[in-house]
Amino acid sequence: MTNTEKVAVVTGAGGTLCSEMARNLAGQGYQVALLGRSLDKLRAVETDIKNAGGLAISVSTDVSDEVSVRAAHTVVLSKFGAPTLLINGAGGNQMDALTNTTEFDERELQDEGSVKGFFNLNMAVFQSVIDINTMGTVIPSFVFGRDMAANKRGCILNIASMNSYRPLSKVGAYGMAKAGIANFTQWLAAYLAPAGVRVNAIAPGFFLNERSRQIMFNDDGSETDRAQRIMSHTPMKRFGEAPELIGCMNWLISDEAAGFATGIIVPVDGGFLASSGV
Ligand SMILES: NC(=O)c1ccc[n+]([C@@H]2O[C@H](COP(=O)([O-])OP(=O)(O)OC[C@H]3O[C@@H](n4cnc5c(N)ncnc54)[C@H](OP(=O)(O)O)[C@@H]3O)[C@@H](O)[C@H]2O)c1
Repeated sequence: MTNTEKVAVVTGAGGTLCSEMARNLAGQGYQVALLGRSLDKLRAVETDIKNAGGLAISVSTDVSDEVSVRAAHTVVLSKFGAPTLLINGAGGNQMDALTNTTEFDERELQDEGSVKGFFNLNMAVFQSVIDINTMGTVIPSFVFGRDMAANKRGCILNIASMNSYRPLSKVGAYGMAKAGIANFTQWLAAYLAPAGVRVNAIAPGFFLNERSRQIMFNDDGSETDRAQRIMSHTPMKRFGEAPELIGCMNWLISDEAAGFATGIIVPVDGGFLASSGV
């Protein structure tokens, strides 16, 4: 594939992990369409890419809304042509979808503010976490994957999580969504194999971003109990850094290096998944 034929669509490209991926792809000669809701975040990444001599456009998009993704598709086609790579990175959790208890507490039945359990969560917020993560992966795959199937080449890379393998406490909606992404990755890989389109996922362990910092650190900068529990189950005893996902990304998107790999979910997690913590 020549450089002008390499067109990547990266959703969540204004975020911690996928901004790193987008910059790396642009450095390899991909024309990169940066998708996310906040244009400010995307434009900062676009500027980095352009300053380094690369090509990028920012397209404000809500990945959970088919109309919005179709509008982004029109822009990408007119600026860069058909995509050859889609990275479904948009997603994440919302504080209001988290419980503050790891198990049932009778006080949650009284709707007291002090205990936020499953029974006093807001179902609309719960559902929006499912929508953004799951339909936010399905819809771009539906819209941009169609070009790949028509051209008989392409690659889709989804972002799963440690929650894709086993549920983590407090984050029921997010865990359900990320398990769905793993299942959908396998399903779509099998479905699109005859079309020459490979579909895989990376499952990052724990990487700090704006939201997770609030969960991992107390106001005085010390680690929360949750962060300490994560570290005690992470043999490498640290959080990951976004550049540590790039090698896995580049392997999975390479038809030369990973041409026979489809439907796999690769953990990059400092050993979290391998460790029982005992
Ligand atoms: N950080 C971790 O430890 C970790 C671990 C496992 C998996 N992951 C997954 O990796 C991906 C990237 O995570 P990250 O740490 O880089 O998070 P992040 O910094 O919060 O980035 C996520 C990006 O997704 C965008 N986004 C959210 N909802 C969207 C929507 N409806 N439409 C379009 N864009 C949307 C956000 O931008 P806007 O708000 O401007 O739209 C944001 O820039 C996520 O799917 C996350 O679940 C992260």
